[in-house]
Amino acid sequence: MKLFDVYPLLTIHPVKAEGAWLWDDNGNRYLDLYGGHAVISIGHAHPRYIKRITEQLNRIAFYSNSVQNRLQQQLADLLGELSGYPEYQLFLVNSGAEAVENALKVASFVTGRKKIIAFGRSFHGRTSGAVAVTDNAKIAAPFNQVHQIQFLPLNDHQALRAAMNHDVAAVIVEGIQGLGGIHLPDGAFLQTAQDLCREHGALLILDEIQSGYGRTGKFFAHQHAGVQPHLIVIAKGMGNGFPIGGVLIHPDIKPWPGMLGTTFGGSHLACAAALAVLEVIRDEQLMRNAHETGGYLIDKLNDMKVAAVRGMGLMIGLDVPGKMNELRNHLVYRKKIFTGESKPDTIRLLPPLSLTREQADMFLTALADSLQEINVVPATA
Ligand SMILES: Cc1ncc(COP(=O)(O)O)c(C=O)c1O
Repeated sequence: MKLFDVYPLLTIHPVKAEGAWLWDDNGNRYLDLYGGHAVISIGHAHPRYIKRITEQLNRIAFYSNSVQNRLQQQLADLLGELSGYPEYQLFLVNSGAEAVENALKVASFVTGRKKIIAFGRSFHGRTSGAVAVTDNAKIAAPFNQVHQIQFLPLNDHQALRAAMNHDVAAVIVEGIQGLGGIHLPDGAFLQTAQDLCREHGALLILDEIQSGYGRTGKFFAHQHAGVQPHLIVIAKGMGNGFPIGGVLIHPDIKPWPGMLGTTFGGSHLACAAALAVLEVIRDEQLMRNAHETGGYLIDKLNDMKVAAVRGMGLMIGLDVPGKMNELRNHLVYRKKIFTGESKPDTIRLLPPLSLTREQADMFLTALADSLQEINVVPATA
């Protein structure tokens, strides 16, 4: 059987990883500034993560959501404490898109409405509702185009005010737009979105799948703006590679039996992985590291004055118009550094939250050399 060929692949075959390092099958070592699409939060092969998962695997890996699973409550408690949302409720799923799908569904159940407001350059996933609120017509099949979605420009207060009415079930926005090229909703815009949702009985959904879990120096990116959404969706960094996602649900939203459900969501093994991640984020102060090392990187990148830099903490975008592909390939094949991309022009940095200052410096040196080698800046600069 052949694999369904949908992914453009690098010609690299990683076989081992540790911290922010990867090794390929030829023994080459790579610095991982991408974390496999922002998934690797606490670093590859963290010993506490391996220990917790291994111990759990030896006890019980899975049983369905028809029995008590104390690990789910332990996870909810620790997540509530570290995220600053102890009074919220947690629904556990397996991926980002599934989290988004369930959040949209809850918003629709609660309001009895169908219409969703989303934003230009958004990415929320590829399942039916998630892809419908994603601003990329190319990845939505006719089947996905039945939802009532209105796209507005991000940070356009007037447009949002004009679009809001009593038909709107929810406004969905990323904490920081990831795939769209690291674009930040401004704090005042999130406040406006929150106020308008309250005024019109709609729910505010924050997609923190890429920007959450400590990446920006706070647990969630929207916490820099001081808003409190009704629904927050999480995945990626939550399991450090183990598939798990979740929806944080406002305490006023009441569940009923059968309202939502999943076979795999919240398995013993997934909870063990997610608990290990939170314990490491707490005990190794990775949010502080994301703030400090990320701030350092952003300052140094701005000092280079060769590319527009956007982002917060360890979620950074670097615009290199016309040269993004060449730079990314140069970095990975010549300098052995993984970075991500956002078409057309943005290099994305989404390293493990444990990235050290020394590793940040290695990247900065490699980047400065690469920019000369591919003639973005003259060799004498
Ligand atoms: C902001 C955001 N939302 C949702 C998703 C979808 O997550 P998944 O690929 O786990 O379905 C992604 C994935 O890149 C994302 O970045």
